[in-house]
Amino acid sequence: MSSYIERMQQALPDLQQKAEPLILGIESSCDETAAAVVAGGRRLLSDAVYSQIDLHSVYGGVVPEIASRAHVEKIGPVVQRALLDAGLSLHQVDAIAVTHGPGLVGALLVGVSYAKGLALALNKPLLAVNHIEGHICANYLSHPELAPPFLCLVASGGHSHLVEVLEGQRYRLIGCTQDDAAGEAFDKAARQLALPYPGGPLLDELAEQGDPHRFRLPTPHTQQPMDYSFSGLKTAFVNLCHQFRQRGEPLPKADLAASFRMAVVDQLADRAEKAIIQGGHRRFALAGGVAANKLLRQRMQAICDEHGIQCYAPSLRYCGDNAAMIAAAGHGVLKRGALVDLSLNAQPALRLI
Ligand code: KG4
Ligand code: ZN
Repeated sequence: MSSYIERMQQALPDLQQKAEPLILGIESSCDETAAAVVAGGRRLLSDAVYSQIDLHSVYGGVVPEIASRAHVEKIGPVVQRALLDAGLSLHQVDAIAVTHGPGLVGALLVGVSYAKGLALALNKPLLAVNHIEGHICANYLSHPELAPPFLCLVASGGHSHLVEVLEGQRYRLIGCTQDDAAGEAFDKAARQLALPYPGGPLLDELAEQGDPHRFRLPTPHTQQPMDYSFSGLKTAFVNLCHQFRQRGEPLPKADLAASFRMAVVDQLADRAEKAIIQGGHRRFALAGGVAANKLLRQRMQAICDEHGIQCYAPSLRYCGDNAAMIAAAGHGVLKRGALVDLSLNAQPALRLI
């Protein structure tokens, strides 16, 4: 009798010929339990998400044990929902794509184990997806016409990367953060302003009413000109807030939020602009949770207009964690025939490159 992987390799050529293979995506790397069905890597059939934010917000951040437990409880119903909304039975799905890293190990393991069980029971290929690659592929759902090569700024709670996206899901790293990620910096600054977790979106809203020029925050110097650094900025912001408290003065929250947001966006956008010029790129895309930031979207659109290049960003729903982006990325994995066997494990520190 042939092994699971032998059977999958035999079935692969037929599947690769299909115009629009149906991929069930599963995402559980952090605090969203998500499942989605995508046809042909670009056409969304369903998208189900259970957000754990309410469970974690009382603690001011994600509690890994609580996240794993909630994933175990919700993954079955979330997958059922995605199939129901797509009008499909499990047997009609062509392949199962799952995030295997980076992320919280216990949380990842829930999705990986569930996907492996499904793949074996249904006799369908298992596709291992890198979460960061998933964020990049979210752009294909909102902009089906987008194709590599393009420059992408991936900014989320755990990552800040400038990458060149090449044909065949290959990537070239242009720059990355030396310390904190942009989303993490937003969340920490938001905490200083007593905004609940995750504070990034709330800080963004508050910043709309503030004066971004009231406080001057430091611009970091990184060893590599395209790298990022947010930890000095964060410390300067904490000290600034502390000074107000020491003087017994109320925090001018909107002005603080606006000044901080501008400092983060200035840094993200300046490096991206340099990379656009140096690389002669014709297309630029934003990705990751921070791609939802209003000022960052406006700034990158303006920069791209100035250089006469196309600017893309996922629709707001696909900036944060979701499984549609995992199914979209899984399509590329299927196309290049990179099937995995049932020994697939969670890789909490998986890198894109
Ligand atoms: O991509 P994501 O959902 O999860 C990770 O892979 O990390 O990103 C979440 C991060 C959080 O830090 C959140 O505060 C931040 O993205 N974020 C924002 C905005 N929306 C989400 N940061 C700034 N402005 C926003 N509008
Ligand atoms: Zn993410």
